[in-house]
Amino acid sequence: MLDEWQNSRLERHSPVLRNAAEVLGFRPAMSSQLFSPITLRELTLSNRIVVSPMCQYSAHEGRASAWHLMHLGTLSLSGAGMLCIEATAVEPEGRISTGDLGLYDDPTEQALLPILKTIREHSSVAVVMQLAHAGRKASSALPWHGGRAVSVADGGWQPFAPSALPYKESDEPPLALDSTGLARVRDAFAQAAQRADRLGIQGIELHAAHGYLLHEFLSPLSNQRRDSYGGSLENRIRFPLEVFDAVRAATPAHKPVGVRISATDWTEGGWDVEQSIVFSRALQQRGVDWVTASSGGLSPKQQIKLAPGYQVPFSRAVKEGAGVHTMAVGLITEAQQAEAIVATGQADFVALARGMLYDPRWGWHAAAALGATVDAPPQYWRAPPREQSALIRNAR
Ligand SMILES: Cc1cc2nc3c(=O)[nH]c(=O)nc-3n(C[C@H](O)[C@H](O)[C@H](O)COP(=O)(O)O)c2cc1C
Repeated sequence: MLDEWQNSRLERHSPVLRNAAEVLGFRPAMSSQLFSPITLRELTLSNRIVVSPMCQYSAHEGRASAWHLMHLGTLSLSGAGMLCIEATAVEPEGRISTGDLGLYDDPTEQALLPILKTIREHSSVAVVMQLAHAGRKASSALPWHGGRAVSVADGGWQPFAPSALPYKESDEPPLALDSTGLARVRDAFAQAAQRADRLGIQGIELHAAHGYLLHEFLSPLSNQRRDSYGGSLENRIRFPLEVFDAVRAATPAHKPVGVRISATDWTEGGWDVEQSIVFSRALQQRGVDWVTASSGGLSPKQQIKLAPGYQVPFSRAVKEGAGVHTMAVGLITEAQQAEAIVATGQADFVALARGMLYDPRWGWHAAAALGATVDAPPQYWRAPPREQSALIRNAR
């Protein structure tokens, strides 16, 4: 009965994986750098594949919902070594939309607990959380409702930013943070990090990319302050570094803390790769465990040159220039492409977002193509076709 069942599955599935392996080029086991482990402080990842943080806009007043269990539960079985939970707001005003996940009070913390317990029970993936503040891009409609800024008059809330400069000229200006506001936001990041630790989150990624608050401090286009937090590069990196220090101090020493940056604004006069290297060097001196090199999101005038792996050169530049571990992200979709990025030393990890939504077992397929293995729960041990029977560790 079992053989019959298995044969019918093999007929259906083998050609697909065989073709994938042929196209991508099968490699003997153990040669894959993508599938080599890496240790960050006391956290060992089984491979270099990361599920990139992805906002789900499915929280209620910051609280995780059943959707998060579906979404994160599925992706916890992707075969990736690390799963980064979406941009999680450190205060209600720091949410992009009413659907954003938050970690700023007991109810938001409690809502995440059963989800993390379930993942821990069934998956060996390292669970990391991205802590974020949306800055001037807060109070927006859900993307599937157009994503426009929602004014206070229309039921939104007052966004905060380094300077009273809106993202789009037609938007209402945000409120420039004063010294009390800066301290409040910095403390909110630290408190969220403590809550994340209590929840068993194994590492933090600080969101300093995509035009949100910390990126707004970095870029001269959005930061036109005249105090010690604006003007020179040294001044513009000051607040993001203070937040990093606060989060690092609030996180136990054995857990890693990384930072996601936009390596360029893709706009004349904006933040760029050279400044990213200076910032990353300062982070390196403070003990950052990785820098994720993303890009854009700060200015509606950006001119992005999209291509497969288009942000990988930023990862390489930051890695070489600042001497930090880097994570490459952006249009990385193929196993051999990911393997080459890591094997040629352009990044220490690769993160995938859309590719993981499209193929939530991307890590398995990459392992099959590269002759490597992944962890899987026993309930799924019968899944691989016969020629991939060595794919799953401990399954035999
Ligand atoms: C649905 C969705 C939600 C996203 N949310 C976040 C987020 O919360 N934080 C973040 O830093 N990037 C976010 N991103 C960007 C991705 O993490 C990633 O950097 C980007 O999509 C490029 O990678 P990809 O080509 O593999 O999709 C999101 C992307 C998608 C598609």
